[in-house]
Amino acid sequence: MKFFIDTANLAEIREAHDLGVLDGVTTNPSLMAKEGITGEANIKAHYKAICGIVEDKVSAEVIATDYEGMIREGKELAKLDDKIVVKIPMIRDGVKAIRYFHSEGIRTNCTLIFSSGQALLAAKAGASYVSPFIGRLDDIAFDGLDLIGQIVHIYQNYGYETEVLAASVRHTMHLIKCAELGADVVTCPLKVITGLLNHPLTDSGLAQFLADHAKAASK
Ligand code: G3P
Repeated sequence: MKFFIDTANLAEIREAHDLGVLDGVTTNPSLMAKEGITGEANIKAHYKAICGIVEDKVSAEVIATDYEGMIREGKELAKLDDKIVVKIPMIRDGVKAIRYFHSEGIRTNCTLIFSSGQALLAAKAGASYVSPFIGRLDDIAFDGLDLIGQIVHIYQNYGYETEVLAASVRHTMHLIKCAELGADVVTCPLKVITGLLNHPLTDSGLAQFLADHAKAASK
């Protein structure tokens, strides 16, 4: 399973990268705005800075919602660095743009996926990744994890190469359940990944080992 970090914060990206388990980064316009990154030149410079930290797979989202605009913006983003994956929303023109980028060998991440039908359409268009937003489904009393299971099942039925990138992952159990269901990737805040470290028996076991060692050494 691949771990992506879902942020535009450079310090967090560096910290996740330093942990040695990071496979990529996802951003979106809200996350860029949260970091105060505005204006085309600053946004592009920020994407380049992110690409300077990680080995590969940096999702950068288009703002345009029409076909021509998405193609123009997507090409500009892809030109910034080979690591860029162009993030395209699940809308009619987005599907057409994904097909175009697929034919040009440019990787895409189809975002704002809320149904298995949308995921099927994105895979048929040739998306490299689909991003089902599980937390936002949970927020409205639909089971986001059910959707992950459905998409994994459909893709396995037909051997689609599109990777299931679970997004809007809010807590560590989301991540673990996504792993059980066979999601290819999760993207989440750093604390969701570091949450995997925690177990009280690890802490008490280590404390006991160290205490026993110190006792034996003092004899
Ligand atoms: O990857 C999508 C993600 O940024 C959305 O997360 O927590 O805003 O629903 P959230």
